[in-house]
Amino acid sequence: MSREQNSLDDYLKKAAMTISQSKHVVALVGAGMSVESGIPPFRGSGGLWTRIGEPPMNGYQRFLADPEAAWKEILNPDDSGPRAEFRQAIEKARPNPGHYALAKFEELGILKYIITQNVDGLHWDAGSKNIAEIHGTRHKVRCIECNLRWMRADFQIRDLPPKCPECGGLIKGDTVSFGEPIPQDVLHTSFRQTQLSDCMLIIGTSALVYPAAGLPSEAKMHGASLIEINTDETPLSPICDIILAGPSGEILPAILEEVSKILNL
Ligand code: APR
Repeated sequence: MSREQNSLDDYLKKAAMTISQSKHVVALVGAGMSVESGIPPFRGSGGLWTRIGEPPMNGYQRFLADPEAAWKEILNPDDSGPRAEFRQAIEKARPNPGHYALAKFEELGILKYIITQNVDGLHWDAGSKNIAEIHGTRHKVRCIECNLRWMRADFQIRDLPPKCPECGGLIKGDTVSFGEPIPQDVLHTSFRQTQLSDCMLIIGTSALVYPAAGLPSEAKMHGASLIEINTDETPLSPICDIILAGPSGEILPAILEEVSKILNL
């Protein structure tokens, strides 16, 4: 066994011990979690923004300026280029072993909540139930006035831009656009779960987009252990207690196996 594998195994055992001794484990998840489901990340090698450049930071303001034009683009997207490839990848993606491992951790009562930046819905598909989608989900639409949400597949769009049947407000995709405030309900849940956590798994995120990227420091401030699972280093790596370098689809099942041994499951 190589030295790297040896040390990874040691860190896996250390992570499993920390998790088994914790009372409120929370996971902060980023795009790296879904790479093994075939969805490219945004940054780093193969990332969507790496290929086409970071999007404008005022997507929300542009939506508000002409919601009808925005909806026309949403309903008739271009079917070529990196964005189309990304959309097609997300449409055919299925959960990977990492998603199923987190769902099992929740079933065992170990993982209390997932705060995900991903809009792909794969945690739901894998069976997880306690999920805060801090950047929304592509599977829903939301009224920007009263914050009501509907499954996109069930929402009849009659006129453009669609209006809220309850309050008449503007309807947009639930995915949070750049420049858009995070909806209060999901922001509150994310902060609350961070406050309650005594161990935070930081999985597949470049930790560059706030407020999500600030949650691990919040958790650390009240003594939570931080366990980072990432193929690369991130700005959070220096404050993490344990760093597991590798793909989450392999590392999470390996941690689950170690935890099952410790807890004689
Ligand atoms: N396993 C674990 N980590 C991985 C894997 C993998 N198989 N593949 C890539 N990674 C890591 C990369 O090293 C990187 O640190 O996942 C991270 C992906 O970073 P980003 O692409 O920036 O994704 P994320 O952190 O979720 O981006 C945050 O930015 O564009 C916005 O709204 C978008 O929610 C997104 C936010």
